[in-house]
Amino acid sequence: MTLAGRTALVTGAASGIGAACARRLAERGAEVVVLDVRAEDAGKVAAEVGGRALVVDLADLASVDDAMAGLDADIVVNNAGIQHLALVHEFPPEEFGRLLDVMVQAPFRIARALLPGMYARGWGRFVHVTSIRGVRGDRRKAGYVVAKHGVEGLSKTIALEGAEHGVTSNCISPAWVRTPLTDDLARRQADIHGSTPERIVRDVMLGGAAIKELIDADEVAELALHLCSPAARHTTGTSIPLDGGWLAG
Ligand SMILES: NC(=O)c1ccc[n+]([C@@H]2O[C@H](COP(=O)([O-])OP(=O)(O)OC[C@H]3O[C@@H](n4cnc5c(N)ncnc54)[C@H](O)[C@@H]3O)[C@@H](O)[C@H]2O)c1
Repeated sequence: MTLAGRTALVTGAASGIGAACARRLAERGAEVVVLDVRAEDAGKVAAEVGGRALVVDLADLASVDDAMAGLDADIVVNNAGIQHLALVHEFPPEEFGRLLDVMVQAPFRIARALLPGMYARGWGRFVHVTSIRGVRGDRRKAGYVVAKHGVEGLSKTIALEGAEHGVTSNCISPAWVRTPLTDDLARRQADIHGSTPERIVRDVMLGGAAIKELIDADEVAELALHLCSPAARHTTGTSIPLDGGWLAG
């Protein structure tokens, strides 16, 4: 499978899962646009994959529209995500809005801008990195859970509308993935609870998973690549869990 001649936009590509997707897509020949709010890290990943950095704050929807105006992409990996923890009755409305802007409004603006080009070329791929929280609720994560459920809905709609134009849209819904963010969280939780990061990962983070190991960011990237391959031509409107058996329980 080659993606030569295809342009892939990966959001949140300066780190973690997004960077892994950027690397995998570039290895297969795609021209990768590394979109992130972190200019320096986006530049590093772009240089590494021979692509280009696009520095945009996805919370600033006017900037998203401006950035998309000059862009054509065949593949969109909608990956950028943020978290805020609070009970619903204490959740700051402005944080709730920010999570929805970054994780729902911005992906909608991106899809709205890039779909006409895909339709004209008769080919397009959307891969949305959601979460098991896109299909299950969780305490203290109202903004995240609502946003991830929202993207699952956006993806299904793109799948239905895009089918006749050769455009597919799918979600990957991972449980805990080993990224710098996850490692840092495990270390901080270990300090708070007088435990070790390994125990926090196994007993707390992976409490609901059958396989008690963090998922590798490359496994997510490999699945994203599969969803862009000819073998996945009829896979659309789905959400594929990558969850170590979490949702089986
Ligand atoms: N790490 C996990 O365990 C896990 C599990 C399930 C789902 N996910 C999802 O996977 C995606 C990537 O997660 P990750 O762990 O690689 O996170 P990460 O924090 O390592 O990377 C996220 C990237 O998004 C960028 N970003 C954040 N806000 C942005 C904004 N306003 N504008 C532009 N870029 C912005 C960050 O700068 C960062 O580079 C997220 O959507 C997350 O919800 C992660």
